[in-house]
Amino acid sequence: ANGIRVFDPAYLNTAAISSKITFIDGDKGFLMHRGYPIEQLAEKSDFLETAYLLIYGELPSKSQSEIWKFEVMHHTEIADDLAKVIGSMRYDSHPMSANPALQGRNLYIHDKSIMNKNIIRIIGKSATVAAASMRVRMNRPFIAPRSDMGFAENMLYMMDATSDSENYKPDARLAKALETLFILHADHEMNCSTAAMTHVGSSLVDPYSAVSAAAAALYGPLHGGANEAVIRMIEKIGKVENIPTFISAVKAKKELLFGFGHRVYRNTDPRSKIIREVAETVFTACGHEPLIEVATALKDAALADPWFVEKKLYPNVDYWSGLIYRSLGFPLDFFPVLFAVPRVAGWLAHWKQAIEASNPKIWRPRQVYVGPQVRDYVPIGDRE
Ligand code: SDX
Repeated sequence: ANGIRVFDPAYLNTAAISSKITFIDGDKGFLMHRGYPIEQLAEKSDFLETAYLLIYGELPSKSQSEIWKFEVMHHTEIADDLAKVIGSMRYDSHPMSANPALQGRNLYIHDKSIMNKNIIRIIGKSATVAAASMRVRMNRPFIAPRSDMGFAENMLYMMDATSDSENYKPDARLAKALETLFILHADHEMNCSTAAMTHVGSSLVDPYSAVSAAAAALYGPLHGGANEAVIRMIEKIGKVENIPTFISAVKAKKELLFGFGHRVYRNTDPRSKIIREVAETVFTACGHEPLIEVATALKDAALADPWFVEKKLYPNVDYWSGLIYRSLGFPLDFFPVLFAVPRVAGWLAHWKQAIEASNPKIWRPRQVYVGPQVRDYVPIGDRE
């Protein structure tokens, strides 16, 4: 499709592992999941359907979809003891740092017979754990999840419901916007956090602990934490007239242009374009986002500068998403959590693919040793 060469045998013997889940053509800025271009999924699918596609390989039939969504949305409750762990978090602890600790509570050894049940539980509870840590930050009581709502709608409900929660319904435009963002963040081939999930999972530890490792990897500002770092960067720049000074600092390697660049995309990240369109919907619903002028001027300045063009630095998935989350009223340090919740689907898809491989192998990368040659021990009295 679109002249994209999906399988190049020459590439296979250089790639560490093969996969049927996601394909990225970095030169063409093309991304697809199980053969479906991301643009079509973002427009026509929803997060739980995309999660099913990633994990089980095909779009679900009507009955499969109903069963899948019923199962996930009826596994959103978290146990009292887990709620107590979340409730005991300091109000100002970074929500991402709490996540690994919370997941690690279930120290099972991986049991293949309950793989699908665990997948349903982890996806279902990911939004609830996230919403509960948000409620701790707001110093407000937890709101129980609603199984009669959509996945993203329920997350907005659990975070924002007021005391008369049974009458509260999130704005449909915002629920749809968050659903689209979740689709766009669901998977992205073998990125840092997915590699962590698959690496840790290869020791046959339980999937909850592997998700903790992946969440910890995602938290970094070079990865999923970039959506938070972008806003801090734009707030620090403050005004459009400060952009040239900032650009010079980036070129002098004194600053990093967060939200730009990508290990694989040598052209723009297709998700970034879609997110920019979603942002307009959210700004219409929530009101003007004051940082959009600086963000737009900064993007334009970078794209017009040969230094960035030569290094093939374009906006990535994180450049605009933070502005949306800010507009939706989430606290800044909660943005990586909004990346982690949908990415759980991709982590589980790659983990399941690896575990189901005929003979799952533990990941044990080799290294090229460049240290000192063999030598004899020197007693301390003989050392300089
Ligand atoms: C995500 O892998 C994935 O798929 C990740 C992700 C996903 O969905 O899972 O897409 C999500 O993590 C997106 C990236 C979010 N991170 C950021 O926005 C942080 C800013 N970006 C950079 O840190 C960087 O671009 C990375 C980490 C994203 C990529 O790092 P690479 O592959 O090491 O960058 P590179 O080799 O392409 O860099 C080429 C040059 C280098 O300079 P020189 O050695 O040539 O002098 O460009 C420089 C880099 O130092 N460079 C940047 C830069 N990104 C690269 N300089 C300034 N600002 C940047 N953003």
